[in-house]
Amino acid sequence: MKRVDMTRRFTITTPIFYVNGAPHIGHAYTSIAADVLARFHRLNGEEVLFVSGTDEHGQKVEQTAVAKGMEPQAYADEVSASFRQMQKDMAISTDEFIRTTEERHKGAAKALWEKVTANGHIYLGAYEGWYSTRDEAFIGEDELVKKPDGTFVAPSGAPVERVKEPSYFFRLSDFQDRLLKLYEDNPDFIGPVGPRREIESFVRQGLRDLSVSRTSFKWGVPVPNDPDHVMYVWFDALANYLTAVGYPDLDDPRAKFWPANIHVVGKEIARFHCVYWPAFLMAAGIDLPKSVFAHGWWTVEGEKMSKSLGNVLDPKALADEFGLDALRFFLMREVPFGGDSNFSRRSMITRTNVELANDLGNLCQRTLSQVARNLDGILPARGTLTEDDQAMLAMATLLPTIMSEQIERKAITDALEEVWKVIRAANSYIDRQAPWALKKTDPERMADVLRVLVDMIRGIATMLQPFMPDTMAKMLTQLGVQDDERTFAALETLLPAGRTLPKPEGLFPRFVEEEA
Ligand code: ME8
Ligand code: MG
Repeated sequence: MKRVDMTRRFTITTPIFYVNGAPHIGHAYTSIAADVLARFHRLNGEEVLFVSGTDEHGQKVEQTAVAKGMEPQAYADEVSASFRQMQKDMAISTDEFIRTTEERHKGAAKALWEKVTANGHIYLGAYEGWYSTRDEAFIGEDELVKKPDGTFVAPSGAPVERVKEPSYFFRLSDFQDRLLKLYEDNPDFIGPVGPRREIESFVRQGLRDLSVSRTSFKWGVPVPNDPDHVMYVWFDALANYLTAVGYPDLDDPRAKFWPANIHVVGKEIARFHCVYWPAFLMAAGIDLPKSVFAHGWWTVEGEKMSKSLGNVLDPKALADEFGLDALRFFLMREVPFGGDSNFSRRSMITRTNVELANDLGNLCQRTLSQVARNLDGILPARGTLTEDDQAMLAMATLLPTIMSEQIERKAITDALEEVWKVIRAANSYIDRQAPWALKKTDPERMADVLRVLVDMIRGIATMLQPFMPDTMAKMLTQLGVQDDERTFAALETLLPAGRTLPKPEGLFPRFVEEEA
């Protein structure tokens, strides 16, 4: 197994979410994926900083608040709290939750602005062109998409409006070569390969200077020394990643967590993270994040989620119905991390019943009930290992190494598949060895087989903790594994024989669809 390097640090972020509506399954998905990575690195003995939060400024939030007849701040307070609650409901283990309306964040955004200005990369001009409030993005003339009715929309399909106002500009055009070199020198900077190619070709086509302030509304961080302007919401929002490490205070204890190892984002905001963000940082002379991973989009029963279609999935309702860990498992298992995916109830039920209830749940239940019944619940010692036993144990022992390599590549789904290979192997091993039949013929061998199974399940449950933290904690308790024996490194030490295991209980009930 890979030696654990206790000096390693791992900094991971999610996007900060707009507070213009309730959290849905898409927000939960990103949060869970990042949580799996954060937990994995923690269990691997690394020092982790996991950052999330809410993006509360800008025209979109202001307009939504006005439409609700609320002050933007009061509205932001309410919706931000619902995102925090969602993260609690999904067991998201964030270390920092940044709200962009907090003073500490406004200070960081201002400091970044001042640094970029002092370095000569911001100038005053006027913007005339298109803006999409839904995307909070300036849309180039050449990017507009003509609809059959002759009107123009953003590439995302969002409406655009004509804007003409004084504006500060960031000299993005100066950064084309440095950005291309960044991508070339660091092939892992943007993942997966689809977004990487898209970003590279976007930058290769040439970059226009970027408008970074607005004057037509007030809901934003004021531009230092020019209170007629508020910062463009993306300049403000991206700065949150620095807020989280105490910027601009370099003596802050969290400063050591910069640069971030990975920004996890949805693919629709890859450009902001892979082009604008590194350019802002280069302009400020701040180290760049090591990577940005842009995952795909969830649809629901084949349709795009939208308020008007009424098909927006509430993650809490799904967790209540299926169990939180079944939901987390499904979201991580259903589609390779990076790709687009479709949420179907049928698939959710199938995975819950086949992979959790049958494969994993039964393996654990069958093993532990035999330990309870035939060994008085006392953990037997490792016996003399047959070739079959050794092959089985080797599979479990290799998991940390194989999975670490997969998690390093963000291949979350592959990592899960690796565990399921071991689970399926353990299930055929138990059938092949038939310990229930050995009870009369060879009780010693029965104990040996059950011990092999306990050790395999311990490996499986330890490695699945990042994905299903609550259920795996219960499983480890049932296996007699103590709290301080649950890291990946702890797997190198055998559990002492003689421990009394608690009475086993089923952990993954089968989901039965109620008759309509
Ligand atoms: O873009 N499928 O916030 P946002 C998968 N505030 N992921 C989805 C999803 C879906 N259908 N819908 C949303 C913003 N997401 C900015 C970010 S960061 C400095 C500022 C997830 O509320 C996905 O991660 O629109 C996406 O990138 C994010 O929510 C967008 O959240
Ligand atoms: Mg969005």
